[in-house]
Amino acid sequence: MVDKLKILEQKKAEALIGGGQNRIDAQHKKAKLTARERIHFLLDEGTFEEIGMLVLHRSNDFGLDKEKYLGDGVVTGYGNINGRLTYVYSQDFTVFGGSLSETHAEKICKIMDLALKNGAPIIGLNDSGGARIQEGVVSLGGYADIFFRNVRSSGVIPQLSAIMGPCAGGAVYSPAITDFILMVENTSYMFVTGPNVVKTVTHEEVTSEELGGAITHATKSGVTHFACANELEAINYLKKILSFLPQNCEDEPPFLQYSIGNESRPDLNSIIPSNANQPYDIREVIEKVIDNDTFFEVHKLFAENIVVGFARLAGRSIGIVANQPSVLAGVLDIHSSTKAARFVRFCDSFNIPLLVFEDVPGFLPGTDQEWNAIITNGAKLLYAFSEATVPRITVITRKAYGGAYDVMNSKHIGADMNYAWPSAEIAVMGAKGAAEIIFKNDIASSKDKVSKLKEKESEYQTMFANPYRAAERGFIDEVIKPEDTRIKLIKAFKMLENKVDVLPKKKHGNIPL
Ligand code: HXC
Repeated sequence: MVDKLKILEQKKAEALIGGGQNRIDAQHKKAKLTARERIHFLLDEGTFEEIGMLVLHRSNDFGLDKEKYLGDGVVTGYGNINGRLTYVYSQDFTVFGGSLSETHAEKICKIMDLALKNGAPIIGLNDSGGARIQEGVVSLGGYADIFFRNVRSSGVIPQLSAIMGPCAGGAVYSPAITDFILMVENTSYMFVTGPNVVKTVTHEEVTSEELGGAITHATKSGVTHFACANELEAINYLKKILSFLPQNCEDEPPFLQYSIGNESRPDLNSIIPSNANQPYDIREVIEKVIDNDTFFEVHKLFAENIVVGFARLAGRSIGIVANQPSVLAGVLDIHSSTKAARFVRFCDSFNIPLLVFEDVPGFLPGTDQEWNAIITNGAKLLYAFSEATVPRITVITRKAYGGAYDVMNSKHIGADMNYAWPSAEIAVMGAKGAAEIIFKNDIASSKDKVSKLKEKESEYQTMFANPYRAAERGFIDEVIKPEDTRIKLIKAFKMLENKVDVLPKKKHGNIPL
């Protein structure tokens, strides 16, 4: 037995070193951790159980029969994050550049299957040169096997992807299907075709970083939800995201005990500027309403005219969607609509109640928006709110104009409670535009057109630029003092905690993609 144990120890030691010390050193030189170091920092100490450590690839072409590494370029298994079961795979760049072989894919699929059957989140730590080129189509098949499982798991268990190195070609599509992507600045990139192919096809000269680096995808494409300064930050963000989530779609998000005290927030009374066209930062409102320092913003650098993220309210995990008046006056456009729609659908999938802060002058006009389908994209947000069955509450802080009033979680599309501050303006459009249209003839026939317009504008303003017309109709449940917002929300979410709302039986809806 002693000999046999020795063989086992030798094999394990061999697996632990991956592609060898030289390649590990090269990895460190690039400011990257190894696959195993990443798992070490991600999981609770001593909880990692590895699966498939001794797997070898089966390929004999191009001399591969002479080059085999135990584990075949991916470390897979399970462990705990803050005491909760999580499955993980971590690609090992020191073995064939973390490239995906048939067996590498099988290992990932094995833990994806376990995660789905056992109802626990899965995290992928991606660092790979893509399909194992020597293996050809079996590698492509392996990718498709993963994509298929990503889709089957979508909405059932949380799936998170951290990109910690190259992620190119079709490899990008597994992360794209998962719930959240995190990229590390300067050491990771994602693209369907790299700079060389781009140059050949479109004659554009672009670096990997410009084409598909973390900042590019965080600001321009919105592909990544987080751009992290380094790998440890990415790992901490992964843990933070999970802290707000349930284990699966039938579970409830973790709840922290909270005893109600003095919940009045008088500072909220003075946040809205006296001039309705003056901006303010909606994050100030969010921070003052939620539990201290619990706001975790998602997609922070993308479509900044809407703010989304997780927070806690009296210990309860909630998702926040808020128009941002300090960017483009908080207008809804293509990117902000799709950003918010995806977040709303995520929260709804995983039983996270939604809180909406509304201050929106409407949808952004223009050919760019129309030709790029603001109709279809704006409809996504409307659709996402309308199908959400989690508790949903809206607070209108200022403007709620036009179609945007309907879209931003109005009562009409199923919100449970809608509050308005006395500063709310709920109308079809702004007073000036409205006066110009409905009093067009009056103004045209007047000697002093400017004064007439002003007079009519003020008439419309007095009549509609307030929350009371909507409150009279019951479209607003209560007009509240800003300082009472926190306590009102705490009570309302508590009141809604056993909400049951079921969609009509269907195979699945047909969201306007
Ligand atoms: C096999 C690979 C590999 C791959 C890298 N290696 N990519 N082996 N298949 N796809 C190996 C290298 O031979 C090298 O081996 C080691 O990994 C490290 O690679 P380097 O090139 O030395 O590292 P670096 O300079 O950091 O460059 C990394 C890289 C580059 C940018 C990822 O290796 C690269 O461009 N690789 C090819 C990328 C690619 O075209 N992949 C296929 C995409 S198509 P040694 O022995 O020297 O350490 C695709 C289709 C999927 O993925 C479709 C799914 C639907």
